Amino acid sequence: MQANSSILIADDNVKTRDLVSAFLTYQGYNIACPEHNALFFDTIQKQNVDIVVADIAHLLTTIPDFLEQAATINPLLVLIAYGNSGDGMKFDSCENVFTLTKPLNLDELESLVMRAREYQTLKTLDAEIGDCDQHQVLSLSMIGKSAPMRDLFGLITKVAASNATVLIQGESGTGKELAARAIHQLSARNRNNFIPVNCAAIPDDLLESELFGHVKGSFTGAYANRAGRFEMADKGTLFLDEIGDMKANLQVKLLRVLQNREFEPVGASKSQKVDVRIVAATNKNLEEQVAKRDFREDLYYRLSVIPITIPPLRERREDIPLLVHTFLARFNADKRNALKGFSREAMELLCSYDWPGNVRELENLVERLVILKGSGFITPVDLPERYLSGKQPSPAPPVAEQPSPSDIQLPEGGICINSAVDEFENRLILQALNRTGGNKKEAALLLNLKRTTLIEKLKKKNLTFSEE
Ligand SMILES: Nc1ncnc2c1ncn2[C@@H]1O[C@H](COP(=O)(O)OP(=O)(O)OP(=O)(O)O)[C@@H](O)[C@H]1O
Ligand SMILES: [Mg+2]
Repeated sequence: MQANSSILIADDNVKTRDLVSAFLTYQGYNIACPEHNALFFDTIQKQNVDIVVADIAHLLTTIPDFLEQAATINPLLVLIAYGNSGDGMKFDSCENVFTLTKPLNLDELESLVMRAREYQTLKTLDAEIGDCDQHQVLSLSMIGKSAPMRDLFGLITKVAASNATVLIQGESGTGKELAARAIHQLSARNRNNFIPVNCAAIPDDLLESELFGHVKGSFTGAYANRAGRFEMADKGTLFLDEIGDMKANLQVKLLRVLQNREFEPVGASKSQKVDVRIVAATNKNLEEQVAKRDFREDLYYRLSVIPITIPPLRERREDIPLLVHTFLARFNADKRNALKGFSREAMELLCSYDWPGNVRELENLVERLVILKGSGFITPVDLPERYLSGKQPSPAPPVAEQPSPSDIQLPEGGICINSAVDEFENRLILQALNRTGGNKKEAALLLNLKRTTLIEKLKKKNLTFSEE
């Protein structure tokens, strides 16, 4: 079944009109038939008609300025015209007109309607891409046209002109590294190095030497002097990724560099001056980590001179078609494939999905589809199952599992009260949302909170809830 596209049928022959209408209704399309041809263009606008299936001779005789009016419709009108052989010839040069001859063959009609829908999808996407201005593509392919992304691009451009330390926060896959690279690219330091360090990927005992370097003989295996990433990034930008995973002893040392702009390589007796711009990133909530004393408060303030938060993809859904189109073009070129695009239904599913893995997940999906399908159009049947419902399962645990405050016992070995309270609060919030089907106003009432306070908490705690 093809759902949701609207098709207008125009034919003075009642039998043909009823047959086409019944056939396309059975296929799942919404059908419009104007009472009178004077209402033809009116119906197209009011009912958001995508495709017209019409006897072309009938249209041309009953609406004398049909061609002029049809040309002004936006988005472009797709016409499937049939009539006596030869009538369609008038439209040979129009790419948005598909022609058939009478007597109508319903199989041919069905495949032409499919082609017309594919054409319409491509045109809509082209129109979206055509809207791009310089704010939608910042640098190094950072793409977005939603209001939050435009604000982000504005902020990045301003920040790049300064030397201030930047802390980028955001869920996994939102584009934190891309943003850090964009800051470097747009800054006066762009002729020098951009050096990334993933603080979570390097074992704790090696991270210090990796960052600050070491002198020969300072530890077993230190056979020669070695420059660290700070030195490599001199006059450039050092990107400290996953900063939330840095251990306490290194946090102190990093704080010193940020304060004094100098550091000591492992085993060295003298400190070394350095001129680096620090950009740090994390997908953890650093404020919470500070509250739990997992991250130094003084370091947090030093790092977050300019805090930047990249919104998750589900909060900027209008960027999805633009990203899909861009990734499609890129992977088609890389893999020499010719996947044409996504049907409207498939795109709608992608736009209503919650994208827990954000842009990275979307990029990976498009790559997989280009490899597996390779040509034609992606329709819902080509999408993996998790994308078909457009919703994520609710993360809320069942009510019976919740402890009541009187059940709580202090464990023998003690407890971190901040994280226990935090966890308890999260569970109550998710339960309230679960009970109210995601209605934040009602959930706030259950929790005796203001709606705005609940929304603030959800944001701060990075909690998400999907209504069923
Ligand atoms: N706005 C965007 N436009 C185009 N591509 C993007 C955008 N945001 C992210 N990407 C792509 O998505 C992928 C993930 O981006 P990136 O590595 O910057 O995310 P991240 O936030 O650092 O993720 P993680 O927290 O997992 O390290 C990359 O391949 C990147 O090119
Ligand atoms: Mg990253």
